[in-house]
Amino acid sequence: MVTCSAPGKIFLCGEHAVVYGEPAIACAIDLRTRVRVREGKKSKITSPYVAGAVKKISELVELEGVNIDIHSDIPIGSGLGSSAAVTIATLFALNLEFDIGLSKEEVAQLGHEVEREVQGAASPTDTFVSTMGGVVFLPSCKRLKSLDCGIVIGNTGMVSSTKELVRQVARLKDRHPGIIQPIFQTIGELARKGEYLVDKRDYKNIGELMNINQGLLESLGVGCPELAAQIYAARKAGALGAKITGAGGGGCMVALVDFDEKDEVASAIESVGGRAIQTRVTEIGVRHE
Ligand code: PMV
Repeated sequence: MVTCSAPGKIFLCGEHAVVYGEPAIACAIDLRTRVRVREGKKSKITSPYVAGAVKKISELVELEGVNIDIHSDIPIGSGLGSSAAVTIATLFALNLEFDIGLSKEEVAQLGHEVEREVQGAASPTDTFVSTMGGVVFLPSCKRLKSLDCGIVIGNTGMVSSTKELVRQVARLKDRHPGIIQPIFQTIGELARKGEYLVDKRDYKNIGELMNINQGLLESLGVGCPELAAQIYAARKAGALGAKITGAGGGGCMVALVDFDEKDEVASAIESVGGRAIQTRVTEIGVRHE
């Protein structure tokens, strides 16, 4: 029997523009999905991601039967990388249980294939960050310094479709290419500056960039009143910066905070109807528990 866990993620900056080749920064967060795998009687698998992971491994070794239990801290379908975390933790646990000898890089690659097969399209961001942990500059997957400050997430509880929002942004770009392309480029520029600021541990300026990024995400049409209310509440309560994380249109926002401001920011998010989650960056990617 083997138990493995893998983390969720947030975007510090760069979502949507990253689809058009611009850089972005994503961070693994200290919310994890744990998967216990046991050789034996087959369990009923309801998650398509877990089924996809089992299928991938069964192409490498013969799997007679496998029993899988899942426990997760990560809200499902809200842009925090829950599907990548369950996929990666399952692959890694099967890898250890059946002594396959896959490297983490191979697990990340297989995880990306599973996400692509289940969703139709997926960037490698979530599966890579969940496997390796830490703060990652994309698309080069360069590891940056960790963030020595708090993260407060606000969940609207509204599930949104990444595929639909990416399509919506593509249509906006097709209608107004001369206006939308420079917005993507500015977001990319902001991520490049973010890389430098993460290295300098300049959280005040990173927060300011997050606020600018939020304005640009709004201009792409991926905001909604519930996210905006939580973002303004977080800033007013002292957050260094606050923005949507992920596709938008619902899902979650993220605030960067000094550790001693986190309770206040979390209460402010709750006071406008969000579900607040206090967390921080984790350097620990997928691991054997
Ligand atoms: O909401 P999420 O975590 O699936 O993030 C979507 C991020 C996008 O940039 C909008 C799409 C992508 O594949 O990078």
